[in-house]
Amino acid sequence: MHFKTSDNIEAMSTKLIGNSRVSALAKLDRMLQGKAFRGARFFIVLDENSYACCLPQVISRVTALQEAEFFEVPVGEECKSLEVAAQLWGALLESGADRNSVIVNLGGGAVSDLGGFVAAGFKRGIRYVNIPTTLTAMVDAAIGGKTAVNVENAKNQVGFFHQPVAVCCDEQFLSTLPQAELVDGTMEVAKTLMLSDPDAFDMLDGRPLAAPEVIAHCAHFKLAVVKSDPHEASLRKILNLGHTFGHGIESWFRDCQRPISHGRAVGYGMWCALYLSVGKLGLAPTMLERYGQWLKGQVVIPRITLKDTEGILGYMRSDKKNADGEILAVLLQAPGVPVIDVSIDENEVRDALLRLK
Ligand code: GLY
Repeated sequence: MHFKTSDNIEAMSTKLIGNSRVSALAKLDRMLQGKAFRGARFFIVLDENSYACCLPQVISRVTALQEAEFFEVPVGEECKSLEVAAQLWGALLESGADRNSVIVNLGGGAVSDLGGFVAAGFKRGIRYVNIPTTLTAMVDAAIGGKTAVNVENAKNQVGFFHQPVAVCCDEQFLSTLPQAELVDGTMEVAKTLMLSDPDAFDMLDGRPLAAPEVIAHCAHFKLAVVKSDPHEASLRKILNLGHTFGHGIESWFRDCQRPISHGRAVGYGMWCALYLSVGKLGLAPTMLERYGQWLKGQVVIPRITLKDTEGILGYMRSDKKNADGEILAVLLQAPGVPVIDVSIDENEVRDALLRLK
């Protein structure tokens, strides 16, 4: 499938602020002091990690936020609930927030999913800014305006597309991250490289994937995709490479009390997608080999049993991106040439999962 990109007015308004000579936080400060934010009150949503590790830098560099109120929410997926969202709406009302108020999400993907959701609902939609503090959020979760909470243990079931006015990626925050979090983010970086770059597999073997220029490349690529297709009608689906398998793996192992993080599950899911790409789309087998070698250098590969395969398949059957009862996945014809909506049958899923070693 050939993708044509065209600008879309809604996502056009997101400003991507990154590091260059001037720190990203300093640029954000300039932006928030501008005319568009005159008289605005700012409310920072954060968790205890970003409170301890990131808020001091933000407050010292972004003078516009020195008077901001902040709301601390539980760490991780725990915060993505309707109850927490309702508490934040209540707190905003109590503080006198109005339609000119701005929410600033300081944290990883869970914080920006929640804070964006709260911004989308408050007074039918107020502006928000994301300051991602994890690699995963910098290259993926904080960009693109997908906001959501979880309902009845099911991830991201209630949400809105609501674009942030700015995403401020300041790589200084990465030095505060545990190694395991960085590895998780690396999987989303690898995904973006495979989608965007004919030399993706050389890049995997080369420089560190959390390098500033790599992060900037991934963030700009994602924003360009979102501008072209903000509501995931077609092109944006490419960003789900590895996620059909990945979500199944993540959900199944969580049920089994052997949790696997989202990033790692996506890393394993990409191997499965590349494995099927070789047979179904003619991806060069050396690409699969190179990715497999790289993956093994990053993470331990879990042993997947027949029972696991059936459990994972159960989740994959109910993936929200499926259509007409078929499991649909993004596969790769070549680095930089993704193909969306490829139907994969259940035996192909079993085969790919059982060969993941
Ligand atoms: N994380 C995939 C997307 O934002 O579309």
